[in-house]
Amino acid sequence: MTNDASPKAAKKLFIKTYGCQMNVYDSQRMAEAMGAEGYVLTEDQAEADMVLLNTCHIREKAAEKLYSDLGRLKPLKSEKPDLKIGVAGCVAQAEGEEIVRRMPLVDLVVGPQTYHRLPAMLRGEAPAILTEFPAEDKFDHLPARQATRRAPAAFLTVQEGCDKFCAFCVVPYTRGAEVSRPVDRILREARDLVGRGVREITLLGQNVNGWHGEGPDGREWGFGRLIRALADTAGLDRIRYTTSHPNDMADDLIEAHGAVPQLMPYLHLPVQSGSDRILKAMNRRHTATQYLRLIERIRAARPDIMLTSDFIVGFPGETDQDHADTLRLIEEVGFGTAFSFKYSPRPGTPAYERAEVDGALADARLQELQALLTRQQKAAQEGMVGRTLGVLFEKPGRLPGQMVGKSDYLHSVFVEAPEAQVGDLVQVRIVESAPNSLHGELVA
Ligand code: SAH
Ligand code: SF4
Ligand code: F3S
Repeated sequence: MTNDASPKAAKKLFIKTYGCQMNVYDSQRMAEAMGAEGYVLTEDQAEADMVLLNTCHIREKAAEKLYSDLGRLKPLKSEKPDLKIGVAGCVAQAEGEEIVRRMPLVDLVVGPQTYHRLPAMLRGEAPAILTEFPAEDKFDHLPARQATRRAPAAFLTVQEGCDKFCAFCVVPYTRGAEVSRPVDRILREARDLVGRGVREITLLGQNVNGWHGEGPDGREWGFGRLIRALADTAGLDRIRYTTSHPNDMADDLIEAHGAVPQLMPYLHLPVQSGSDRILKAMNRRHTATQYLRLIERIRAARPDIMLTSDFIVGFPGETDQDHADTLRLIEEVGFGTAFSFKYSPRPGTPAYERAEVDGALADARLQELQALLTRQQKAAQEGMVGRTLGVLFEKPGRLPGQMVGKSDYLHSVFVEAPEAQVGDLVQVRIVESAPNSLHGELVA
């Protein structure tokens, strides 16, 4: 066997990925689709024959980033007129041909559900702007995942889209309706990943725990059942999933957290706010108390679980009391880490027209909330010292003989392990907590 093509013949593809893990996964699949057309990936934008920007529309800043990056591509495009520039992802879906109108240097615009047609678009066999939600499943039209060795931790998209319509969020419009991939495809893709060196899989979906489908036994499976089936995959040592919605935490999923050893004790369960008024205005469809009761049940199933969340501050109508309610919820739960954002009004969403909270006030609230979350994060990390945890080595560390990998709780852990290799899953006693990582020793 020789390599796919000589370096001279191969065209180079540069991909920049913005936004969530689903985009990271999609970028890999697009790279594979383009690989079948003779493109190889490059890290160097200057030598690219094609630049693909896989974009995020979630907040205004994320979307505007695309236009500043496109602006910066102008000199390269004038230098290399044959350079192809493509915009994929959620801005592509939301703005479509508006992107080409604003930035005529863009050759192709492709939405998250149509990127399997990217090669045809490049060959001129499909329109240059493709953002419909096709009836066909893109996964049926993508090339099989390449037979190359993979990093030990991988993503696997099992569910896409969202029917929840939170009042602030663009995802239902950019990703379309909730769709679950069939069980057999998911199990096959997982086996294939494991065959190529993967030991940890993170199942992805905008509402991943809303996944459901018909099992091989002819019964309707929920997400907990899928996890149990995946846990039977020999060689798959770790399972994670993100992002989940509180209203889709079914009993069998909660039980799986107690029963499936491969399921890591880490759960990202965004709550957004601790105020019932705001939760209602956000259309989250649960109260703060319901969230807290849910956390209790999850902790009863898996006492050592670490919880993380997303928060939005300054949602329209948020008062000092609402903000205080959010801080109180955070105190009550104790999160391992969390993402927090200042509300960003997004065109086309129900909250877009609502009167905004004063910007400076929202900034102050964000600071206060982040200070609390940072304290909790520090405490959670320091609480790991003295514990023995699994660590999956992902790459060599900064020092000779050192490896770095992720703990069960997704902390980066540096370990002296001169004999070890990438992909080893070892037991490590945590000895020290540094600002953004842990240090540990191999347990014999
Ligand atoms: N499906 C996930 C969220 C995906 S978006 C869920 O329901 O939890 C990731 C995060 O971005 C959200 O949890 C929210 O905190 C934040 N976000 C979404 N829209 C936003 C907006 N308009 N302004 C600020 N933050 C937003
Ligand atoms: Fe957005 Fe809400 Fe759907 Fe999450 S559940 S993707 S926040 S609409
Ligand atoms: Fe962004 Fe789309 Fe993901 S809007 S967060 S890239 S689903």
